[in-house]
Amino acid sequence: MARPRRVFPLLVLVAAAAAISVSAPAIAATASEADALLAWKASLTNATALSGWTRPAAAAAACSWRGVTCDAVGASVVVLRLRKLGLSGGLDELDFAALPALTELDLNGNNFTADIPASISRLRSLTLLDLGNN
Ligand SMILES: *[C@@H]1O[C@H](CO)[C@@H](O)[C@H](O)[C@H]1NC(C)=O
Ligand SMILES: *[C@@H]1O[C@H](CO)[C@@H](O)[C@H](O)[C@H]1NC(C)=O
Repeated sequence: MARPRRVFPLLVLVAAAAAISVSAPAIAATASEADALLAWKASLTNATALSGWTRPAAAAAACSWRGVTCDAVGASVVVLRLRKLGLSGGLDELDFAALPALTELDLNGNNFTADIPASISRLRSLTLLDLGNN
């Protein structure tokens, strides 16, 4: 007699995992990303151009900050494009680990100084980095 194949329990597990990933709260990531961006802003010596970056009532509101673009569901910051805004300071206080989905970091044409921290390597999704003209 052939042994019965136990396929069904595996299917249930896969279906359960899919259901969990679909129903997970989408804005959880953005709350920590907003905190990381606000902490960086606070460290800058000139953040006048980022005066609209204020603690959002809803985490996803950070997606409407100047220069910030999120993914389609508002779950993660994917682009930070802050060109020619008169910003000065450094990158030391930017918690790169809090921005795992960032694909583009464009700070061209500001007044940033100091070294580029090694922790920038934690931007695992980065495809464009422009720190020119600082
Ligand atoms: C950079 O800073 C200097 C002096 O602090 C200022 O004169 C200059 O306009 C700034 N440049 C930009 C692009 O903001
Ligand atoms: C600070 O940023 C503002 C807004 O971009 C800019 O007008 C101003 O020139 C900057 N100040 C300095 C000292 O760079």
